[in-house]
Amino acid sequence: MHCTKLIKDGLFWVGANDRRLAMFEGIYSVAGGVSYNSYLLTDEKTVLFDTSDKAVQHRFFENLSFALNGRKLDYIVVQHMEPDHSASLAELTVKYPGVKIVCSAKTLTFIKQFFDLKFDFDKDAVIVNENDTLNTGKHTLHFIMAPMVHWPEVMVTYDSQDKILFSADAFGTFGALNGALFADEVDFEKDYLNEYRRYYANIAGKYGDQVQSLLEKASKVNIEMICPLHGFVWRGNLSPIISKYMLWSAYQPEEKGVMIAYASVYGNTENAAEILSCSLRDMNIKTVMFDVSVTPASEIIAASFRWSHLVFASTTYNAGIFISMEDLVNDLVAHNIQNRTVAVIENGSWAAASGDLIREKLRQCSNIKILEKTLSLKSSLKSSQLPEIEAIAKAIAEDFPNAAPASSQAVTHEIKPASIDPNAMFRFSYGLFVLTAKDGDKDNGCIINTAIQVTSSPMRISIAVNKANYTHGMILKTGAFNICVLSESAPFRIFQQFGFSSGKETDKFAGCSYNDRAANGIRYVSEHSNCMISGKVADSYDYGSHTIFVADVTQSIVLSEEKSVTYQYYFDNIKPKPQPQKDAKKGFVCKICGYVHEGGSLPPGFICPLCKHGAEDFEPL
Ligand code: FEO
Repeated sequence: MHCTKLIKDGLFWVGANDRRLAMFEGIYSVAGGVSYNSYLLTDEKTVLFDTSDKAVQHRFFENLSFALNGRKLDYIVVQHMEPDHSASLAELTVKYPGVKIVCSAKTLTFIKQFFDLKFDFDKDAVIVNENDTLNTGKHTLHFIMAPMVHWPEVMVTYDSQDKILFSADAFGTFGALNGALFADEVDFEKDYLNEYRRYYANIAGKYGDQVQSLLEKASKVNIEMICPLHGFVWRGNLSPIISKYMLWSAYQPEEKGVMIAYASVYGNTENAAEILSCSLRDMNIKTVMFDVSVTPASEIIAASFRWSHLVFASTTYNAGIFISMEDLVNDLVAHNIQNRTVAVIENGSWAAASGDLIREKLRQCSNIKILEKTLSLKSSLKSSQLPEIEAIAKAIAEDFPNAAPASSQAVTHEIKPASIDPNAMFRFSYGLFVLTAKDGDKDNGCIINTAIQVTSSPMRISIAVNKANYTHGMILKTGAFNICVLSESAPFRIFQQFGFSSGKETDKFAGCSYNDRAANGIRYVSEHSNCMISGKVADSYDYGSHTIFVADVTQSIVLSEEKSVTYQYYFDNIKPKPQPQKDAKKGFVCKICGYVHEGGSLPPGFICPLCKHGAEDFEPL
């Protein structure tokens, strides 16, 4: 029984589906079947565009007969002589005597190669060249040569009446038509794009230049519908398929992400590939993974056309690349993959060789950037090599501006219990500063080690001040302070004067020769400081023992070119070294001011009575 589809007045789909075929062309698995499209135009003349594969020719002839509705067949346009579209040609010429074959000269050669036809080619073959036309009544058919899309004899046909491009293999796909004929009847992106890509990459992928040439020719005519030899008819909005063809044929990736293909005999190469994938995912980089031993190469070829970065991880086998990986890489090179960034991982228990061999093959392709970062495993991944995986991930991430920072957790896989070593705090490159404030007639100051610039516009700084300091209360009350950055020439006496006693009981400026006041009226230490900065508090944050003041800079003066003193410099060069004592006491000494607390331990919440630093700044005697 016939099963045809009306495309529009006078134009029928008379093709057929094959869902029993296991391997298309003997290579490509087609679990979803395949359609062999054939179209019949019934104008004043009747024109058939291509025939069908032998497997479905019974249905095809039923369909053709029904659509012809008793009319004779005037023309068979052979756009592509590959047998999935032409196997029924010989029988067609017998069933429809007098039919004229319209084709390119190259096609005629192929017809004679494939068949021993009793056909008067001189009389009944119409050989067409680029832009030749055939008028069939209302319709004019324009023939456009499309060599190597997918074979050299291919041509496509443009019907200028209905603005239809009969596109041969171009714009086709694997997969049977399950009742639907038009692409807008299905969810292309969700359900069919993968198969369209797999079809393109594997069937026409090698011939990007030729496909681009066809796209260029097609862009010069007004196309409202595309009728390919496989898959759905496109009508109306053609951009979903045209845009994909523009990318694929230019070998441009559709998406940024990493395709990881691995060949692993005992799972160790897979392990390295998986850890790399985890690292990339942790950086928010998309990845897909394929085991080349169990995944059809056509799927990995398609994925390689989709993604921007490719990773090949392969064990060494017979001093070469593992067989299925070697097949894949050869296949990929044969399909002319270009414009990709590639990383390679190799494994070899005694003579790793697969990495260099993979790289050598891929260098045959255009614009393939092979990352220097690589990994060579000996049998299995060792923790000492995790940084090498991390380095590959980071090298890939350089092409992903929005990648998250590398997660060391993903590559170390060793999570130690959290602990706090207070000595780590001394690794900060703190400076040392004299902080001064004024409340009424009372001038005061203290030593602090935490002052930083927060913003430059507006110019803001922050300081952290221990609440036990008298200066802290003054700043809290007045909202103003000066800070002087001490320089390396600062003598220990300045630290003693401002750090070892409380301003509550003493005059911090007693005997000072430096009596300068800033514009805010607060005194500052103009000697042994390389700058003075005045702050007006804009905000404050209570952090228990300390308050963080954020202040607008109201004045700043450079006082000298001397280097700023650091915490480390102070300990190494300014603070007197403890002298050995005969009968050493048991206790703790303040590293800031030298105050000694006798006893076996420091009380909880202990603060140095002299300089107000906490227990963390004490060390055992
Ligand atoms: Fe569908 Fe190139 O044949």
